[in-house]
Amino acid sequence: MMFGALRAVDDVSLEVQAGHVHSLIGPNGAGKTTAFNCISGVCRPAGGQVLLNGADVTGWPSHRLVSAGMARTFQITKVFGELTVLENVALATRSRMGCNLQVWGSARGRTDATAQAAEILKLLGLDGSADATADHLAHGDKRVLEIAIALALRPTVLLLDEPTAGMSTGETQRAAELIRSIAQRTSVLLVEHDMEMVLGISDIITVMTQGRVIASGPPAVVSADTRVQDAYLGAVDAWST
Ligand SMILES: Nc1ncnc2c1ncn2[C@@H]1O[C@H](COP(=O)(O)OP(=O)(O)OP(=O)(O)O)[C@@H](O)[C@H]1O
Ligand SMILES: [Mg+2]
Repeated sequence: MMFGALRAVDDVSLEVQAGHVHSLIGPNGAGKTTAFNCISGVCRPAGGQVLLNGADVTGWPSHRLVSAGMARTFQITKVFGELTVLENVALATRSRMGCNLQVWGSARGRTDATAQAAEILKLLGLDGSADATADHLAHGDKRVLEIAIALALRPTVLLLDEPTAGMSTGETQRAAELIRSIAQRTSVLLVEHDMEMVLGISDIITVMTQGRVIASGPPAVVSADTRVQDAYLGAVDAWST
């Protein structure tokens, strides 16, 4: 990906396996979000390919990617503050069913959407807040609602860019457990700065600096890599926890 003369992401290759939490980490400005944007259709890479379940989806617009099975919280999320938590998720479920207009409009379709939404809330531990209006949720719960809305689209892969930003320690721990459990059904590609969390929940970690991948592998291998340690010299404490 080029921004003027700046090559923000260069020759980055990563493969997210089914059932995995795959984390993308690196210092500020490493190109993580840009790589995410290339994968999720926000910007078109100058070169390279994005494959989803074997199909070439390079440069596809987001709505097509969503139908093909790729969901991303920051981009597709639309939380309606005055609607309840359940209604927010049911809307996403219905939008997925939207390809079938008859189902969408029918009472049966509405009941199905609500039942599926309730199931997702239960899975994410938000069922206790189902009838609360979204505006009244605590920050951490609001972020979980965003994940619930993304999951309502039944993606095969879910992209999360710093989902724990602004969360308390307790909320972060809960989010970590959630992401781990989501991966049983939906692969997760995660950008995250909380190193303890990344080391704890990832199957594979890809490390970027200055637009390039410098290491990729299981947490134990990546954290023992001297190039990675060098890149994180300023944050050595995070690695020793
Ligand atoms: N729209 C843009 N125009 C010009 N340069 C950009 C643009 N977006 C990002 N960059 C540059 O591209 C590089 C990669 O940025 P990117 O946001 O992808 O990094 P990041 O790894 O996500 O960082 P952070 O951890 O701070 O979120 C940086 O040098 C950044 O300044
Ligand atoms: Mg970023």
